[in-house]
Amino acid sequence: MEHLVSMKQLSEEGIMALLERAEIFKKYGGREFPGKFQVANLFFEPSTRTKMSFEMAERKLGLDILPFESSFSSTLKGETLYDTVKTLEAIGMDALVIRHPYNGFYKELVGRTSVSIINAGDGSGQHPTQSLLDLFTIWEEFGTFKGLNILIAGDIAHSRVARSNADSLTKLGANVRFLCPAEWAGEFDSVDNWDEVLETSDVVMLLRVQHERHESHDVFTESSYHEQYGLTVERSKQMKDRAIIMHPGPVNRGVEIAESLIESPKSRIFKQIENGVYVRMAVLEAILKGRN
Ligand code: CP
Repeated sequence: MEHLVSMKQLSEEGIMALLERAEIFKKYGGREFPGKFQVANLFFEPSTRTKMSFEMAERKLGLDILPFESSFSSTLKGETLYDTVKTLEAIGMDALVIRHPYNGFYKELVGRTSVSIINAGDGSGQHPTQSLLDLFTIWEEFGTFKGLNILIAGDIAHSRVARSNADSLTKLGANVRFLCPAEWAGEFDSVDNWDEVLETSDVVMLLRVQHERHESHDVFTESSYHEQYGLTVERSKQMKDRAIIMHPGPVNRGVEIAESLIESPKSRIFKQIENGVYVRMAVLEAILKGRN
């Protein structure tokens, strides 16, 4: 694998190979490439989980990380993303992890640079390593994807997580359903009533309302959204015994999910974050071993 830009590029076998490597890294660790490759993390949108867990994965693999701060870079002087990447290629970088607000930012890079590109989230497009860590967490829990009912609830239209997981979970044989206000469904068929879907779901994945990507003012208050579309404590009691709660973060407590459910026995929210490190090790390894 030269780049990872979208879940659409991975086959079922390719996904499972990455999850199996992540499992090995989780059990045994693995300092694969001490001092061998230079990487940088270019984040043009805020991030806590993705940026820090990529950095942890890179350190665990023994990679050299060159610091890059978008707020002190020459992009502020008008340099394009393409010229920034070509500059880092000339300096000697092997791989760049990039988060950018533009959907499909990677299309102007792939095929025009020898540096490997890992998409850490492009606008409302894709977030492949978030999808892989979600898949890993579901696989750890259920040992399969086939026949599972996965409910994704929230701001679907603006969510790269929903889009990546719809691609990958469907490919792996799960049944993916969406719950949201009709105007936030994007290209997906959705329901707007929990009663239709909650009791039969194995995974309930909540998404944050992405106010920063909304063009007009939202009609919901935090409490009216929670009442209608949030996972309330009352609703959680209708979930199957073995069903789990997931959320890619960051969480808006008391909006898409009741505060007391975040660290409840059904929640895997912090497990997802932990698993992100091992999945990102697997992705970095798959990309860098091709550069040997
Ligand atoms: N899930 C996720 O992408 O979180 P961050 O924005 O904190 O990286």
